[in-house]
Amino acid sequence: MAEPNELPLVTPPGQNGASAHPRESVTPRESERRYAQIIGWGYAIPEKVITNHDLEQIVDTTDEWIRSRTGIEERRVAADPKETTATLAIDAARRALEVADVHPSKLDLIICSSSSPEYIFPSTASVVQDAIGAENAGAFDLSAACSGFVYALSMARGHILAGDAEYVLVLGAETLSRIVDWTDRNTCVLFGDGAGAVLIAASPVPGGILACELGSDGSGAELLMVPAGGSAMPASLETVSSGNHFIKMDGKAVFRFAVRVMADATRAVLDKAGLDIDSLDLVIPHQANIRIVQNSVLKQLRIPEEKVFINLQKYGNTSTASIPIALCEAIEAGKVKPGNNLVFVGFGGGLTWAACAVHWSVPTDRPTTDWWKSTRRQAGYQAAAARSMWRRAVRWVYQVWPDDPEGKPIPDGEPVKEPVKEPEIQQNGVLRRDE
Ligand code: ACO
Repeated sequence: MAEPNELPLVTPPGQNGASAHPRESVTPRESERRYAQIIGWGYAIPEKVITNHDLEQIVDTTDEWIRSRTGIEERRVAADPKETTATLAIDAARRALEVADVHPSKLDLIICSSSSPEYIFPSTASVVQDAIGAENAGAFDLSAACSGFVYALSMARGHILAGDAEYVLVLGAETLSRIVDWTDRNTCVLFGDGAGAVLIAASPVPGGILACELGSDGSGAELLMVPAGGSAMPASLETVSSGNHFIKMDGKAVFRFAVRVMADATRAVLDKAGLDIDSLDLVIPHQANIRIVQNSVLKQLRIPEEKVFINLQKYGNTSTASIPIALCEAIEAGKVKPGNNLVFVGFGGGLTWAACAVHWSVPTDRPTTDWWKSTRRQAGYQAAAARSMWRRAVRWVYQVWPDDPEGKPIPDGEPVKEPVKEPEIQQNGVLRRDE
C-alpha cells in the first residue's frame, strides 16, 4: 500500500468524496477499491454550564483540586428534562448531514454509541432514525463505554468496505449527568453531557479510515460500571435506595489502565495503518483527564503537545461523545486539513480501548449556508415527524379497532402475507412442504 501521506488528493466525483452513484454500486467490482471517508461532522452540547465553583456548593471539593487533578474547568449538563441523549444525538446528526450535504434517505445505517441511552431498548439510534427521516437506514446502539465511538467507526468502516453500505451515520451521545451520583465527589466532577456525529461514506478517493484497533479486558468490569438496571441486578426499591443505578468507579485503577492502553493502542493502530509517529498530524484522545493524556500520548509516545487536541477543560468527560466533539472543534480551529494523518484513541468501561487511524481527504471549509437548501432540509424533518405521527396513528387505529372475525388486523397497512403452509415434514434432513 502506498504511504497514506503520499496519497493523491483526487477531486472526488460525488460530494465531499462520496461515490457519485451510491445506490448503483452496492457490490464493488474487483477493480474498484472502496474507502471509508468521513464526509460530515457535527456536535451538540446542552446550554447549561456547571463550573468547578458551582460544584464546590454541591460536594466537598475545590476548583483547585479539580483543575490540578483532571484539567477540567467546567462541563455542560442537560438541565432541561426534555433534553435527552436522543435529542442531542438528533441535533448532532442533522449538523453532520448538513456539512456533508447528504439527504437522510440516503443513509444505510445509523450506529449510536452510548452508555446513557434513551432507553434500555429501543435503541437511541432508532429514535434518531425516525426523527431525521432516515427511512432506508438500519439502526442499532453500541455499548463500549467511552471507547464506543471508535468501536462504531470501526463497524461503519467494515460495512462500507464490505460493500454493505454507502452511507453510515456514527453517533456518540451521552447524558451522563442523569446517571452520575451528584453526592459522590469522586465521579460527579468528571463527567458532562453532549453528542457528536460523523457521516462516513463509501468513496473511491484513497484514504479515510485506514485502520482500527479494538480491545477489551472484561476482568476489569467492576472498576467502572453502573451495577443495577440490567439482568444481574434488576431495578428494585433497594437498588434505587442504595444508589446502584449510578456510576461507580475505582478512579486510580482506571487511571493506570488508561495510561497503558492509550499508548499501546496508538502504537498498534499506527502499525496497522503503515504510519509512524512522526507522520502523525493530530491525535484526538478521549477527553477524560489531562494527566492521562500527558502520561500516555505526550510522555510515552513523545508526541508534541501541539499535535494533541484537548477540549476537556470546557466539557469534562462526555464519554463516547468526547472524541467526535473534539474532532468537530479541531476542524473549527483549523487543525484538520486534507492530507493530514489523525489518530482517535479512547478507553473506558468494559474495560475497553480503541484507536483508529484516519487519512483525512476531504475539504474542511464549512459550506456556505444556502437559504433554499436549509429550508428544504427543515421541511424534510417536519415531513419525517408527520410520517412518524401518521404511523403511530395507524397503529393506534388498529389497536382500538375491533378484530376482524375473518382475519387479523393488518399492522401498518402492510399487505397480508400468505401464511406458511403446515405441516412441514422432514425427509432425509431436508425440510419439505406438504403439497
Ligand atoms: N475533590 C477533592 N478531593 C477529592 C475529589 C474531589 N472531587 N475526588 C477525590 N478526592 C480525594 C480522594 O478522596 C483522596 O483523598 P484521600 O487521600 O483522603 O483518600 C484524594 O483526593 C486523592 O484521590 P485519588 O483517587 O488519589 O486522586 P487521583 O489523583 O487518582 O485523581 C481521578 C482521581 C481524577 C478520579 C483520577 O484517578 C482519574 O482521572 N481516573 C480515571 C477516571 C476516568 O477517566 N474515568 C472515566 C473512564 S471513561 C468511561 O468509560 C466512562
